[in-house]
Amino acid sequence: MKKNILVAGGAGYIGSHIAYLLAAHDYQVVIFDSFVYDQEFSPSWATVVKGEIADTKLVQETIKKYDINAIVHCAARIEVGRSVTDPADFYQTNLIDTALFFEAARKSGVKTYIFSSSCAVYGDPVTLPLHESHSKNPLNPYGKTKRAIEWLLEDYAQAYDIQYVTLRYFNASGALPEVGIGECHDPETHLIPLAIDALQTQRPLKIFGTDYSTPDGTAIRDYVHVIDIAKAHIQALEHLDKTAISGYFNLGTGEGHSVKKVIETIESISGKKVPILEMPRREGDTAILVADAEEARRILNWKPEHSSLEFIIQSALKWELIRFHDQRQKKIIVSVA
Ligand code: UFG
Repeated sequence: MKKNILVAGGAGYIGSHIAYLLAAHDYQVVIFDSFVYDQEFSPSWATVVKGEIADTKLVQETIKKYDINAIVHCAARIEVGRSVTDPADFYQTNLIDTALFFEAARKSGVKTYIFSSSCAVYGDPVTLPLHESHSKNPLNPYGKTKRAIEWLLEDYAQAYDIQYVTLRYFNASGALPEVGIGECHDPETHLIPLAIDALQTQRPLKIFGTDYSTPDGTAIRDYVHVIDIAKAHIQALEHLDKTAISGYFNLGTGEGHSVKKVIETIESISGKKVPILEMPRREGDTAILVADAEEARRILNWKPEHSSLEFIIQSALKWELIRFHDQRQKKIIVSVA
């Protein structure tokens, strides 16, 4: 029988896509979210509970009420730059509150956990593409808090009767405009939505660094469509169901694209010019991050199928157009009919 899944952070960008796909695969989905962006989100296909992950009483009541038997945890602070200037907020939410949340879930008898981690746990690459066994030297509090929770789950699985899959996302991007879900952070810091915004507003996109040791001098990232990321969560649940073997998996395509390549692709699809401003490097950025996702393919049978740069950008453009023309744009992250 399909599990009842609690998706913490299920009203956010990645969480909403995971929740949607789980529901489309006949899982019973309970979205548990603090609605930190004040976003509108009341999908017909999931139960929504508004609450803080640190509210252990509410977490336990929700698990009991909906007979939850697996947790997908993607509630987190995410802006890498802000994690350096305001680490307290990141240690609070991503570490302390997350530890309280996992402990409440464990005490309620939940045995299956899928955790959203990040390529930020690796730090500066020593070898590329990045394999899961690469050294982990996170450069910022965001990556450090993700790594710390990876350890917590490892230790929990050793000591208690639980299993986990930790998924290390590379650059989640794209949207599901036809479903009405997509990216809308406030403030937005990610390249693709900012480049599309520059296209629409003619306010220049800042290119952070043109002097990297890459072919065109701009930084290279591994962009993976958010729906491919969502699919990996279903395959991780199936894997744990079958094998009960915990593990870590990179989610990326193995192919890198430079900032200039992203801009050129947006221009060629939209037929418009992205105004740009060349700036110094952004603090904490590294030249190249590309995944070795062979383990996810081998063990989870995961293959990114929607992650060509063209498709990612087409879906992000459609989503941004919907949002741009919506009067309520800044109030909405996700809106599902
Ligand atoms: N960039 C620009 N201009 C912008 C925004 C970004 O040039 O206005 C560049 C960045 O410097 C970087 C690339 O575009 O080289 C991608 O930047 P994003 O902010 O879109 O994504 P990051 O690679 O910084 O961050 C992603 C995830 C994080 C994760 C991190 C790990 O979004 O959650 O990878 O390093 F932690």
